Amino acid sequence: MNVAGHSAVITGGGSGMGAETARRLARAGAKVTVLDLGEAAAVAVGAEVGGLGLACDVADAAGVEDAIARARAAHGPARICVNCAGIAPAQRLVGRSGPAPLDGFRRVVEVNLIGTFNVMRVCAADMAGLDPVNETGERGVMIATASVAAYEGQVGQAAYAASKAGLVGMTLPLARDLASLGIRVMTVAPGLMDTPMLDGMPEDVRERLAASVPFPRRLGQPGEFADLVEHIIANAMLNGSVIRLDGAIRMQPR
Ligand SMILES: NC(=O)c1ccc[n+]([C@@H]2O[C@H](COP(=O)([O-])OP(=O)(O)OC[C@H]3O[C@@H](n4cnc5c(N)ncnc54)[C@H](O)[C@@H]3O)[C@@H](O)[C@H]2O)c1
Repeated sequence: MNVAGHSAVITGGGSGMGAETARRLARAGAKVTVLDLGEAAAVAVGAEVGGLGLACDVADAAGVEDAIARARAAHGPARICVNCAGIAPAQRLVGRSGPAPLDGFRRVVEVNLIGTFNVMRVCAADMAGLDPVNETGERGVMIATASVAAYEGQVGQAAYAASKAGLVGMTLPLARDLASLGIRVMTVAPGLMDTPMLDGMPEDVRERLAASVPFPRRLGQPGEFADLVEHIIANAMLNGSVIRLDGAIRMQPR
């Protein structure tokens, strides 16, 4: 599918890989709506790319329905939906003060997994009402962002890894759900990417992490994620699967 002229919704688009994807798709001619929990960031990136930026919590059903309705009113129903919103707080099952608070686990699953499902369900309903855009019969494409933690979660990453493994698990059934409508569903599982999500780490930890990537021996760049998103949109045979974007890293126990 070509990007040019189509409406695109990007969650978590106020920062990191989502922001870079917003810039890339806008440069390729998409009409971009950025959704982010942070209103200022959403509005700033939306303005930068000549699109729309809206505050939205992806975990909130009514909030997402409202935001997608506003995106639809501005740009028409989206044919491209890229889900980058995510959080990664670490929490061991049992800490110094006892069992991990259940709300912490619940919130990570709500944002990363249920939030992605929430946005996809509303976007897919819009796409279903559109005419196919080419002779292949494509109506649209939706992309989730998992993580290599779906396969090799680290200490303290039970919630994050479970949420990302949930995205991996739902990719094929969602693609099957939507196949008859000509809507594709793909997931990208990044390794270690150079975004604000890693900013909290001390420089020596970031350097050690970068050196642990077999090749190229560095952190991935948000632009490399955007490259893959662009290719997934363009390539109609990519459907129902997960692509690792990780320089061959396989996270070892720490
Ligand atoms: N950086 C990495 O190394 C890495 C590796 C693997 C996967 N990922 C995943 O990639 C995605 C993008 O992460 P990033 O590295 O660009 O991080 P980032 O922190 O720069 O961006 C994430 C964005 O999501 C937004 N967000 C958080 N909760 C939200 C909510 N409830 N509703 C709407 N927006 C919300 C944040 O405000 C932020 O702008 C995330 O899903 C993350 O889990 C990141």
